[in-house]
Amino acid sequence: MVTEISKLKINPFHSSVYKINDIDDLAESIQELGLLQPIIVNSSLSIISGVRRYYALKKLGYTEVDVEIKHLNVAEEIAIISFNKQRVKTQRERLMEAKYLKQLWRRKKGRKSEAEKLQTNSNMGPADTRKDVCKAVGLSAGNFSKLEYIDEVNPDLVDLIDQDNLSINQAHKIAVKLKESKNVEDKSIYLPETISNDYYKIYNKSSDDLSEIPDESVQMIFTSPPYWKLRNYSGSNDELGAEKTPEEYIKRLVDHLKDCYRVLKPEGSFYLNLADTYLDKCLQSIPNRIQIELMKHGWILRNSIIWHKRNSLGFNSKDALKPSYELIFHLVKSKKYVFNEIQMPFKGEVKPGIGWINRKRSDNTSSDYGRVCLTGLKDGKQLEDFWDKDVIHTAVANQAAVKRYGGTEHAAPFPEEICIAPILMTTNSGDTVLDVFSGSGTVGAVALMLGRKFIGYDLDPKHNSVQVGRFNDSIISLDAAIEKYNQTQLSKAA
Ligand SMILES: C[S@@+](CC[C@H](N)C(=O)[O-])C[C@H]1O[C@@H](n2cnc3c(N)ncnc32)[C@H](O)[C@@H]1O
Repeated sequence: MVTEISKLKINPFHSSVYKINDIDDLAESIQELGLLQPIIVNSSLSIISGVRRYYALKKLGYTEVDVEIKHLNVAEEIAIISFNKQRVKTQRERLMEAKYLKQLWRRKKGRKSEAEKLQTNSNMGPADTRKDVCKAVGLSAGNFSKLEYIDEVNPDLVDLIDQDNLSINQAHKIAVKLKESKNVEDKSIYLPETISNDYYKIYNKSSDDLSEIPDESVQMIFTSPPYWKLRNYSGSNDELGAEKTPEEYIKRLVDHLKDCYRVLKPEGSFYLNLADTYLDKCLQSIPNRIQIELMKHGWILRNSIIWHKRNSLGFNSKDALKPSYELIFHLVKSKKYVFNEIQMPFKGEVKPGIGWINRKRSDNTSSDYGRVCLTGLKDGKQLEDFWDKDVIHTAVANQAAVKRYGGTEHAAPFPEEICIAPILMTTNSGDTVLDVFSGSGTVGAVALMLGRKFIGYDLDPKHNSVQVGRFNDSIISLDAAIEKYNQTQLSKAA
């Protein structure tokens, strides 16, 4: 039955189920292929199925639409709306289906034999032309070409589309620019300045102003700012670390960190990793001077952890000992804060065992790198404040994670193990972890792997693609970890 679009009503339950913020791609598909399925309505013309199609048609300027009336009770209507949400395919699924159909269609064309006519599964029907392929999966020919192109240039962009961070058109524009740019280093600068989904948010801006984050909403902050006079990261004026004197650096960093106090929950924790610098042969005690300033601002110092860095960087002086450690301060806002005690084994280096997982990547390979203690160890000693290789296995820092995701070497990523114990001790599953100098995203990768949410700030957009790659794989690793943990529990019970 054909009816006027203006007569259709939206069931309020839809707004809690659907995101109607980006219907451009669907509108484009309808414009090219027409409306493939009628909109399903109840007897009072309230939409049961097809609300996104309804908005797309309105956007295209349609005044009339083909509807099918169904007589259902309220519970049945809600069940259908929920079911429809579950069967909304991601663009990646559509792309994979279309690629599969295209392959079959090509093979069929090659054989030119009716008898060998290839059928796909019953939902899709046979594909005779590129148009059939698109119709079967609900993509316009234009969007199929764009998705194929985007996937070839940078598959992460397809994930960003599925996470509602980009439309197909935006991602396509980015992919075109990426392809034009032969320089791998430039890749990530085309990603948007804010990347946000249910798991993580990345902001490319200075973290002295965290106004995107509500007061007392973050459970834990783990961060490592640029050390004084050690490196130049992005060259931006907002970048910390290039101040003329240690005093200027200390003042600027302490001011910079003020908003961290505001966003942290009263029961939250703040871990700050710092190292010292020499000036005129004199070690400046910068970490301790910062720590004292932070205490004046109300922070309570719970631990001053020594991170012993095997293979620490070169040191030219022959009349002093080679520096081999950095400090990690554990600060809190109130005397009562979340603290889950975790145990270390009594002797020797931690060996992977129950509760330790191998990292699984989205391409289904797995790696030894980055073992994660998921459950903690039951029998052992209390974790101490001197962290040697029993806590942090890897040497100084590992660039492998950065390179694996197509990034250039980050000047100073720290090893993943540095934040595993702090996150396990001071947060619970689902809590939000923040890194205000997120760099290559090490803290975010660990937080997500452990089932926490993450917010990261970094001035330098160059790291976005590495962060997105690491974060998306970490979410997959979490599933693998839970699966492995459940298997362990099952085999114990058997
Ligand atoms: C020591 S690195 C952090 C490395 C990170 N922990 C990792 O594992 O990759 C410091 C980072 O701070 C960033 N940065 C410098 N000044 C900043 C500012 N004002 N706001 C936000 N980020 C800044 C730099 O771009 C750099 O990536």
